[in-house]
Amino acid sequence: MKAVVVCGSPRVKGNTQMILETACDVLKENGVDTELVLLHNKFIKPCIACEKCKQLKDRTCSIKDDDFHPVLEKIIGADAFIIGSPVYFGCATSQTTSLLHRAGYVARQNNNFLKGKVGGPVVVARRAGQNFTYAQLVFFFTINEMIVPGSTYWNIAFGRKKGEVVEDEEGMDTVRTFAANVAGLLYKIKQ
Ligand SMILES: Cc1cc2nc3c(=O)[nH]c(=O)nc-3n(C[C@H](O)[C@H](O)[C@H](O)COP(=O)(O)O)c2cc1C
Repeated sequence: MKAVVVCGSPRVKGNTQMILETACDVLKENGVDTELVLLHNKFIKPCIACEKCKQLKDRTCSIKDDDFHPVLEKIIGADAFIIGSPVYFGCATSQTTSLLHRAGYVARQNNNFLKGKVGGPVVVARRAGQNFTYAQLVFFFTINEMIVPGSTYWNIAFGRKKGEVVEDEEGMDTVRTFAANVAGLLYKIKQ
């Protein structure tokens, strides 16, 4: 079983990356082959609504001159997909939404290839907007027929400066439990 965990923060070794690394550790401890993909060093253009994916029908987007397709291939090849984003003005980052808009639209022209994947979002902010952003990202999972396990709380955490998130013990524990539930669900549906 494979999981791809994507970090939509532009900040390397920031809070989102840290909490996602914890999720990766738990997935690996539970026997899931896990890869963390960072978007800080990738350029993913936004969806331009050209609708060419409706004609292409080959699991690709018409925009080929950026880093989108290697990330999409990893998502296609995984049984589980987790996306993490910091909150920017009450929303997910542009890096996160550019990836999801294009992946989701391409998937919907290609027999909903995201269907049945297990996963969900993880969100970090300094003070507020986590729940809006969590909901924004859950909408992506559920409209694409993906399966989102719960945790002991929503997958949100607090932190501003790099590293502060580890001080949010409840947030870290929530994400640990979420990752364990992703692994547990994968075993159930794959057996
Ligand atoms: C452009 C920008 C907008 C932000 N907007 C919010 C916000 O709406 N609410 C909030 O609590 N924190 C906000 N923050 C703070 C970040 O969410 C916070 O520092 C987070 O830990 C960054 O995650 P990272 O270390 O993974 O990049 C914002 C930061 C930036 C740079």
